[in-house]
Amino acid sequence: KQGGSDDAKRAAGESAAEAVEDGMVVGLGTGSTAAHAIRAIGAAVDAGLDVTGVPTSFQSRELAREAGIPLTDLDAAEIDLAIDGADQVAGGCLVKGGGAAHAREKIVDTAADRLLVVVDPTKEADVLDHPVPLELLPAARRPVAAAVERLGGEPELRRAERKDGPVVTDNGNLVFDCAFGAIADPAALAADLATIPGVVEHGLFVDVADEIHGGTADGVTVTEL
Ligand code: A5P
Repeated sequence: KQGGSDDAKRAAGESAAEAVEDGMVVGLGTGSTAAHAIRAIGAAVDAGLDVTGVPTSFQSRELAREAGIPLTDLDAAEIDLAIDGADQVAGGCLVKGGGAAHAREKIVDTAADRLLVVVDPTKEADVLDHPVPLELLPAARRPVAAAVERLGGEPELRRAERKDGPVVTDNGNLVFDCAFGAIADPAALAADLATIPGVVEHGLFVDVADEIHGGTADGVTVTEL
């Protein structure tokens, strides 16, 4: 997965981490940009901040443990704030799932009182046109593909880079990347995708984000939604 500069990602991640306050339960997103926020929160914990994290993936759990952030889960805590990356942002809507973590990300990000999205400039667009990841049950592969095609999409099974065969998510499922071209009405497409039997979760996040922290090598622009 290619991305923008690491300086821009770090700026965004560190900016969002500044919103974390003593006593908060924080949703910890997945990906290279959210990783900067996790490290910054870890540094604040080292300096005495009292926070607890709820990870969204194997990766964010591992990073948080390395960073020394105490962890909990949704059985035990309510989330004040989540910080997460995105593959594309337009009009406050997101496409997520480039790291195949969007199902747990959506659960955590939606449960949080506030979601801060951290991106570099390569993620910002006027209209969403990034392929939408779907996590699906392996047994539903063919009917889900047919349903996506009926909606005008082109589903492509995501294949692993260092394994022969498909990407398998943290939940044991498959991923389709579904190209729809420009997505004029993300809410309508999100509703359609959510009705397909066998789709565990899709990567469109509509009405979930509260702030976009857009990092560049020179600073951060915060957009309130
Ligand atoms: C994980 O599945 C994704 O939703 C990530 O949050 C998204 O792909 C952004 O990752 P990067 O910050 O690495 O681009």
